[in-house]
Amino acid sequence: MGLTISSTRKLNSGVEIPLLGLGVFQTPPGTVTQKAVRFALEAGYRHIDTASLYGNEEDVGRAVKDSGVPREQVFVTTKLWNSDHGYDPALRACEQSLRRLGLGYIDLYLIHWPVLELRSETWKALVELQRRGACRAIGVCNYTVRHLRELLDASEAIPDVDQVEFNPFLYQEELLRFCNGKEIQLEAYSPMTRGHRLGHPMVLEVARRYSKSPAQVMIRWSLQHGLVVIPKSVRPERIKENGEVFDFEISEADMATLDSLGEDLHVAWDPTDEP
Ligand SMILES: NC(=O)c1ccc[n+]([C@@H]2O[C@H](COP(=O)([O-])OP(=O)(O)OC[C@H]3O[C@@H](n4cnc5c(N)ncnc54)[C@H](OP(=O)(O)O)[C@@H]3O)[C@@H](O)[C@H]2O)c1
Repeated sequence: MGLTISSTRKLNSGVEIPLLGLGVFQTPPGTVTQKAVRFALEAGYRHIDTASLYGNEEDVGRAVKDSGVPREQVFVTTKLWNSDHGYDPALRACEQSLRRLGLGYIDLYLIHWPVLELRSETWKALVELQRRGACRAIGVCNYTVRHLRELLDASEAIPDVDQVEFNPFLYQEELLRFCNGKEIQLEAYSPMTRGHRLGHPMVLEVARRYSKSPAQVMIRWSLQHGLVVIPKSVRPERIKENGEVFDFEISEADMATLDSLGEDLHVAWDPTDEP
């Protein structure tokens, strides 16, 4: 596949998104977040995934600035929280995120959760924010095929991204096919199952075959399915390890083995029954 840590994919609005990003959910604000982001940038990551919910946007923005990497070379995602849905609240929430980040624009602004009744007004606000240049790309999280169909029926603007829980134990094939058909880039969160399945015998067996760690195998599996992947760690050695996934390729047979591990595992929120 010839991918590297600098590889990007073009989103439907024309913006290039780096395939590998650092997630900072449950990364405490202050020096822990700042150090994790700084270390990731030193290790070659060029994409950071935060959210207003995470309480660390200020630290992400500060670390990006202090890193010395030019702003335009770092892709910053943040998300609109549930209490900010609706047209005007969404415009305000974006302004507040920009202020906390201390940045002139957000690379990707996502609706964090498909909140009933308000989500279509919120989406209109995101379209407007993109038009104004406050965000370069816009998208959603935790949208099932049903939520995406509803959005696409009501709007001409196609989300650049749907960020969902995705790993071999939650292999969302139907959603992946749907998104590929609509040019919506699927992004994998909790790509390492938050550690819950790193000790699974089949994952260990595949990892051994490539002299890689179970975490690296799971991240690589998502990349080979065409996803953008955002593993989280606060530890320098793991941030480095999670970025070293571009020097091997999982064979078709091993991909099939990993594909067969699906058990509908949800370690985060499950949006399946969200009306
Ligand atoms: N849009 C949404 O609704 C949503 C929901 C959940 C997550 N996300 C995003 O996706 C990112 C990643 O998902 P996640 O944080 O839920 O789960 P994850 O990345 O699958 O797992 C993170 C956990 O694995 C540990 N870990 C990291 N690297 C490891 C390694 N090489 N070996 C063993 N353990 C390792 C981390 O601990 P240490 O930190 O101690 O290393 C942490 O406990 C989040 O940070 C967030 O940005 C988005």
